[in-house]
Amino acid sequence: MPDKIQANAAAMPGFGAAIAVRIEQLARISEDAAKLTRLFLTPQHREAAELILSWMREAGMAAHLDAIGNVVGRYEGSAPRLQALLLGSHYDTVCDAGKWDGPLGIITAIACVAELNRRRKRLPFAVEVIGFADEEGVRFASTLLGSRAVAGSFNERVLDGRDRDGISLREAMLRFGLDPERIGAAARARKEFLAYLELHIEQGPVLEAEGVAVGVVSAISGATRLNITLTGMAGHAGTVPMAMRRDALTGAAECVLAIEAQCRGDLGLFGTVGYLKADPGASNVIPGRVTFTIDMRCASDEHRHLAVATAVKTIEHIAAERRLEPQIEVTHEGRTVACAPWLQAQISEAIARSGIAPRALPSGAGHDGMAVADITDIGMIFVRCRGGLSHHPDEHVMLEDADTGARVLLDFIENFRDGRRKPKE
Ligand code: GLV
Ligand code: MN
Ligand code: MN
Repeated sequence: MPDKIQANAAAMPGFGAAIAVRIEQLARISEDAAKLTRLFLTPQHREAAELILSWMREAGMAAHLDAIGNVVGRYEGSAPRLQALLLGSHYDTVCDAGKWDGPLGIITAIACVAELNRRRKRLPFAVEVIGFADEEGVRFASTLLGSRAVAGSFNERVLDGRDRDGISLREAMLRFGLDPERIGAAARARKEFLAYLELHIEQGPVLEAEGVAVGVVSAISGATRLNITLTGMAGHAGTVPMAMRRDALTGAAECVLAIEAQCRGDLGLFGTVGYLKADPGASNVIPGRVTFTIDMRCASDEHRHLAVATAVKTIEHIAAERRLEPQIEVTHEGRTVACAPWLQAQISEAIARSGIAPRALPSGAGHDGMAVADITDIGMIFVRCRGGLSHHPDEHVMLEDADTGARVLLDFIENFRDGRRKPKE
């Protein structure tokens, strides 16, 4: 752990520096010594889960690993078995990730519970913290696997999905020590929760540009992810005339540029090809097969659905022109989810009490709340990050901002009132 952060933690009372120490501790648990990569169900993922479990227990929570690998901690309220305010975020990462995306929300929630426990304060509701096992969806293409299991919306078909080494989710669970037949045991009932609240780095530049440390999220944009395979014909790079080739990679390149052009010309639409692999992958062989992903996002679900349909048509057209066979599979579909107005109001009150003018902003990034919204109302607090940078190793949050985020979250928890709309009689 960098000495400077340790020294700051000792010198600076409050939450920020202690949070940063734990961020560093978790970031050291990586599949790759040179960069942070911690994918779902790897040995490093397991090691991180154990560390978070130990922090939860130290904070006075009963903690366990659930049936999909989520880390679940519970701090009882003033009586046993009360409904819970659920807090959380995720502990998996993208490849070559930043340290704050996900862990900040878990570590801050645990810090708030630890503070309640230190003061021996019990609330008229329980507080649960979940470290969701898979939000990023890097390993098995399908995302939100941890939170979907909790929401009871886990799609069993994903169990047969394979990672890039050919290991199925089913096999990976068994290796991790989980039983794929028991995923249903992770599901929780609506009646168990009062609300879900997630604190997360903004992952964009708005709060920094406006000079505020925290903001309240209004909604999370929906997303579609697709896996595309184009199959042509491999052949000798020196003999097959250019006009006779069925080169899958040049076809994929045309598709990538077409998707970029489509999204550039459409305000509010975000399209990304983040992964592309050519086979057989040799400099003297015409690529016979290419696999690539598309991630398409928009705040309007209708707009996104139309855009995905257009992109699919474009790919089919390019493939036909080039005599390639397209195979198009939707691996993730998540609707836009609004944060509950009553939670936004209580978050805004907590932000205002910290002396900051509440600023509402939408989230273009996906979050576990998209799945949790199926069983309870959701709210989110965003914390400013440097340069709006995320999914990048330079992702950074200032200690003062981490501190402000934690104070706002604690204030929110201590002043929480059930504001759910009552069902009509
Ligand atoms: C997760 O960070 C996502 O938005 O894809
Ligand atoms: Mn995240
Ligand atoms: Mn992320």
